[in-house]
Amino acid sequence: MSGYWLGVDIGTGGSRALLVDEKGRIVAARTAAHEDMRMERPLWAEQRPEDWWTACQQAIRGVLADAGASGDAVRGVSLSGQMHGLVILDAGGAVIRPSLIWCDQRSQAQVDAINAKAGKEFVLACIANPVLTGFTLPKLLWVRDNEPAAYERVRHLLLPKDYIRYKLTGEFASEVSDASGTALFDIVKRRWSYELADVVGVDRGILPKVYESEEVTGAVSADAAAATGLKAGTPVIGGGGDQAASAVGNGIVEPGLVSDTIGTSGVVFAHMDAVAYDPAGRVHTFCHAVRGKWHVMGVTQGAGLSLQWFRNQLGGGASYDALTAEAATSPAGARGLIWLPYLMGERTPHLDSMCRAAWVGLTAAHTHADMTRAVLEGVCYSQKDCLDIIAGLGCGVDSVRLSGGGAKSAMWKQLFADVFAKPVTILETQEGSAYGAALLAMTGTGAFSSVTEACQATVREVEVVRPSSDAAYYQRSHGVFQALYPALRESFRVIDGLG
Ligand code: XUL
Repeated sequence: MSGYWLGVDIGTGGSRALLVDEKGRIVAARTAAHEDMRMERPLWAEQRPEDWWTACQQAIRGVLADAGASGDAVRGVSLSGQMHGLVILDAGGAVIRPSLIWCDQRSQAQVDAINAKAGKEFVLACIANPVLTGFTLPKLLWVRDNEPAAYERVRHLLLPKDYIRYKLTGEFASEVSDASGTALFDIVKRRWSYELADVVGVDRGILPKVYESEEVTGAVSADAAAATGLKAGTPVIGGGGDQAASAVGNGIVEPGLVSDTIGTSGVVFAHMDAVAYDPAGRVHTFCHAVRGKWHVMGVTQGAGLSLQWFRNQLGGGASYDALTAEAATSPAGARGLIWLPYLMGERTPHLDSMCRAAWVGLTAAHTHADMTRAVLEGVCYSQKDCLDIIAGLGCGVDSVRLSGGGAKSAMWKQLFADVFAKPVTILETQEGSAYGAALLAMTGTGAFSSVTEACQATVREVEVVRPSSDAAYYQRSHGVFQALYPALRESFRVIDGLG
């Protein structure tokens, strides 16, 4: 089958459209930026779904132009997107309010109310995970509790990429990997947990139809064709939450493979043939974008975000390359300075919506280079927390495939290898989520017989970074990092109370 396949990733910073050919080779890619997250209060984060759609249209038109391709040549489209965001639509399909996105932490009262009403055991039996502030259900209940007039109008609940699907096809649909992050999905049975929806009083009728990730969910409508340059009737395939899609793009579709993707968040991800979960709920067990398979993942909320925040607030406008070069001039451990990357609370391992970021150990002797290095190291320590829990679940970890921003810097790659004390491997294709979506589009239209076959045909490791002599230091200093959160936990609550 010749032609092109399109993967579209709705990230936090922007939407990326990526075109591949019949061999899965990248032909062109285009990103259109999103408006900044709106953070009305600390730990709140909103974006406008209409802005994602504007960016998607620009990115799709742009990538077709870059490839010199007409929409007729595109055989299939698939989607990946930031997970957990709440998109609510009225009866006419209009967005009711801005999306509370994945890192928004305002819904602790709703999490507590769900646990009180349903019971933690019942929740675990329904969705195999605890309910967390980041997940979609408590955000929906926050709207019910705080904006009743808006809630009254809700007829459809969608996730970010599924809003784009709706704009492309007119269908209200999702797929198993992203639905897993709503806290309303029975990940064992791969269907909505109507049991939990009923107990918490969510109308079953607002939930979209759920597909496997490589199934066709609809076709590009005439309106969407006019808006994007795609051809009306082009099949739109399920796709995945950005982490599951990125795992497909990184070939994490068989047991024994582990990846680490550093975007705004940082996610350590392992494939599972059968459901296993952390009884403490510190890592998420979700459906994989591979039919009948699951995955486990640990999430650092503020990974790439730590460096982005540092650059924007204290970096003097330096490039990321300049910052990592500067960090390399500071020694391992940044001369006793440690960064806690909890800029948006934390999921793994703390499950704490109130914790905050900090440098600990700062003295008058510390320099900008030390602060930069500490930021990079703090993200690595936090991802090591995730990796250790995943290894403890019995997912063999021989090496880690690194992708996203962290994989672009030689210095940060080496830090990950040293802090993990494992070889870190780099893939030929660094496109993660958008590439995974394109492979799902290929599989869904029959260009490959399965997602696993698609990955085997396309994903290749091209570099191995082995731990250096600094690794021994980092194994000791990781313990110091781990001791800081428990020491500060109660202070974070007091600070939160100060407003
Ligand atoms: C995963 C998660 C983030 C977002 C944004 O659970 O919340 O990775 O999907 O990338």
